[in-house]
Amino acid sequence: MRIVDLIEKKRNGGEHSAEEIQFLIGNYVCGGVPEYQISAWLMAVVWRGMTDAETFALTRAMVASGETLDLSGIPGPTLDKHSTGGVGDKTTLAAVPILAAGGVFMAKMSGRGLGRTGGTLDKLESIPGTRTNISIPDILRQTATVGACLCGQTDTLVPADRLLYALRDSTATVESLPLVAASIMSKKLAGGAANLLLDVKVGSGAFMKTLEDGRALAELMVRIGEAEGRRVVAMITDMNAPLGFNVGNAVEVKEIVALLKGNPWIEAHLNFLVRTICGIGFVLAGRCKTQSEGEALTHELITSGAAFDKLCQIVSAQGGDTEYLLRMVKQQVARFKYDVRAPRAGYIHGIDASEIGMAAMVLGAGRKDKDDVIDASAGVLIRHPIGKQIEADNVIASLHSNCEISIREATSIVQGAFDIRDTAPELRPLVYETIGL
Ligand code: URA
Repeated sequence: MRIVDLIEKKRNGGEHSAEEIQFLIGNYVCGGVPEYQISAWLMAVVWRGMTDAETFALTRAMVASGETLDLSGIPGPTLDKHSTGGVGDKTTLAAVPILAAGGVFMAKMSGRGLGRTGGTLDKLESIPGTRTNISIPDILRQTATVGACLCGQTDTLVPADRLLYALRDSTATVESLPLVAASIMSKKLAGGAANLLLDVKVGSGAFMKTLEDGRALAELMVRIGEAEGRRVVAMITDMNAPLGFNVGNAVEVKEIVALLKGNPWIEAHLNFLVRTICGIGFVLAGRCKTQSEGEALTHELITSGAAFDKLCQIVSAQGGDTEYLLRMVKQQVARFKYDVRAPRAGYIHGIDASEIGMAAMVLGAGRKDKDDVIDASAGVLIRHPIGKQIEADNVIASLHSNCEISIREATSIVQGAFDIRDTAPELRPLVYETIGL
């Protein structure tokens, strides 16, 4: 078999066998295929696509490129959750402790954010002392004893994805349904959980901009997971507006702590999504019969304090300061704060997630380049939900940053993100569809 023949086959619209894909990926990871050949093959895939059989084989070859987590020794149902990412999406930090408090075991490996806002790891690391770089034996030990682990993906898991993703990023080959689905699902399958809950975001602040694209990705990922014997549910949820009021790192942890403590000021969409995800997660993992039973259990775990206690146990097991979570007093505070005011009276019709994400990044909450250092205290705090009627000059958002110049730039971005009109808006659904189960 020659790589050049495989490139030609895909260029001409042919279908690879599983052996051909394994040959390509296996040799690439071992350094036996130059990047220019893999790049050419990736571009051919972008143009020609892949059949389901090819996508399943690609996912399998990527999983086989590294270690996998063996969760067979975990004393209960296992679940993994994945979000395709969005602005203010902090649901993992709430859903993992809630589900773990309800007896679902979660070895949750997350990524860092690149661009816009930080990822789950960045948010978690804003809690003083918290380690996220955890070895596989320690991930397994903590998951079995505490019920959950919130950590970074180890270097030995799916090395093919790390290599391919970097190459795709620099060769304009990220946007391909089979490549995206195989990339996400290889990491989920290697994570070892029997049950997978996927949150596919669609809208201005998401990777997938339209419902059609989101649905195609969700359906493909469900098919991949089921072909590997996992139980999979994919939700398609809105990401045209930020999720919750706070966008940043420490400020998002603060919002999650408030949610887990049952605080009533939690933004309605964030509250709803966390409860829906947990409701479905409890059904998927076999802990409840119906979603409403799962949502009732979620409510009970929040009001009893069990979910917040579980977050403290997870953070403590990872060296983090639980006093910080209990009192939120040692929070890093930004040197500069600025209130953004409404340019006119009216109803808030929309708050553009993409623009708020951009403002958060300008303030220091996200990375422009992968080696940039995040400012944990930076962020945007939105003051009103969509639908609210406001007066001209009302404060609509507060900006936090350690860089005064960036506040000026972020102010005009945030002002532009608010769509204020004379009449009340029709509110968009948050969950568009649920696929699987
Ligand atoms: N997220 C991933 O993990 N992989 C992709 O290819 C795109 C988004």
